Amino acid sequence: LPALRRQSWSVPSFVAADGTLPKLEMEFTVSSKKLQKMVRHMVNEMRKGLEADGHMLKMIPSYVVTRPQGDEVGQYLALDLGGSNFRVCMIELRGQGQTAIRQAKHVVSDELKTGSGEQLFDFFATCIGDFLKSLGMDTREKRSLGFTFSFPVSQNAINHGELMQWNKGFSASGVLHKDVVVLLNKALTKANINIHVTALVNDTVGTLVSHAYRDPQTYVGVILGTGTNAAYVERMSAIPKWTGDKNIAEMVINTEWGAYDEESILPITSYDNALDRASSNPRLQIFEKMISGMYLGEIVRYVLIDLISTGELFRGNSTPKIQTPYAFDTAYMSRIERDHSLELSDTKAVLENLLDVHNTTVQDRRIVKHVCELIGIRAARLSAAGVAAIVTKMKRLDACTVAIDGSVFEHYPHFANRMRDALRELLGIMAENIVLEQARDGSGQGAALIAALHTK
Ligand code: GLC
Repeated sequence: LPALRRQSWSVPSFVAADGTLPKLEMEFTVSSKKLQKMVRHMVNEMRKGLEADGHMLKMIPSYVVTRPQGDEVGQYLALDLGGSNFRVCMIELRGQGQTAIRQAKHVVSDELKTGSGEQLFDFFATCIGDFLKSLGMDTREKRSLGFTFSFPVSQNAINHGELMQWNKGFSASGVLHKDVVVLLNKALTKANINIHVTALVNDTVGTLVSHAYRDPQTYVGVILGTGTNAAYVERMSAIPKWTGDKNIAEMVINTEWGAYDEESILPITSYDNALDRASSNPRLQIFEKMISGMYLGEIVRYVLIDLISTGELFRGNSTPKIQTPYAFDTAYMSRIERDHSLELSDTKAVLENLLDVHNTTVQDRRIVKHVCELIGIRAARLSAAGVAAIVTKMKRLDACTVAIDGSVFEHYPHFANRMRDALRELLGIMAENIVLEQARDGSGQGAALIAALHTK
């Protein structure tokens, strides 16, 4: 991005004399009316995706047809590849909705994300082997495993499916259009580990199912983390594209809503476009790029660079750090939004220590905070529209628990309340019936539960 000052006659003013940001406010604010339009459009896109493949929303049948009763028991292994982390878990289902979990968490390095698929799956196998050994378990003893693989996968059985697209910064070679269970099995055999994959699940599906183990009113699972997506329980009669067993009453559908990209409805700014073009998956996952943790800080960074280039921020002074893609972590936004001190001293600390921006004025810091708010609020409101579309599609406005996991929902200040406000605008009094609940560790536990349901 050019750090050069614009010619004075073309300088757009982002900052008004009183320190507000009217132009940016206009661009990033999504009115109730716009959100309402989006809900209607999304419901319609969901219908299209359920009719046939190839539409904006993939609406993937998950092959998960039963939800747990709460009385399932046993010990199950689960693997959970989300966005930034990979976890191996041993989950004990104790009945009555009770679980105990032991797990090992690993960060997936950029080299693994973008290297060869074989390396990536070998890494999974090594982690599983190490984990079993740490629990004193024999790797040659036969076990079942639930595999949470949080990418769009076209499932052709409960324990088989092909990767349709990488996202969230992954591009490991030799995995696209391959059955990821076959790849995992190959790596496990090579490592002499006797494991049988009984379920392949998306993280949203896992979150839904694990929350339903405790709360049977749970019909929706949402991830608001590195990426974003939702799954919900659909009536089979509403899934015309399903050609399998017709004697099933309902099935969990993975919407893959991150791919929603209706340009006439989404408030896409020039900053969103710049981010998209420079991303590893241009023109894909547009909704995800406006909402999820991988991107929120990056949108802020684009806006700040623009404000610097017009001289409206930091007296026009940039730093190499702030010019570095993805240097503005979404966690910094959380810290800044949480800073209620008079002089915004923590915001000052973030700018100085993490972005090498020194000598900022209080006015500078107010502007930075306001940019974070605009982008954070937009993300929460768009997420709420997605939830409203799903409960509307399900016709469950009378009572529904939405289980939500992910770093953005869990750690971003006010995110949940902003979502609730937007839901009220969209659904009126009915919004009181929609309970947004924090789910934790759901994706791995859900995979274990689904493995249990399918081993029964
Ligand atoms: C991305 C993936 C999706 C996953 C979501 C959250 O959107 O495509 O499958 O559920 O990230 O992890």
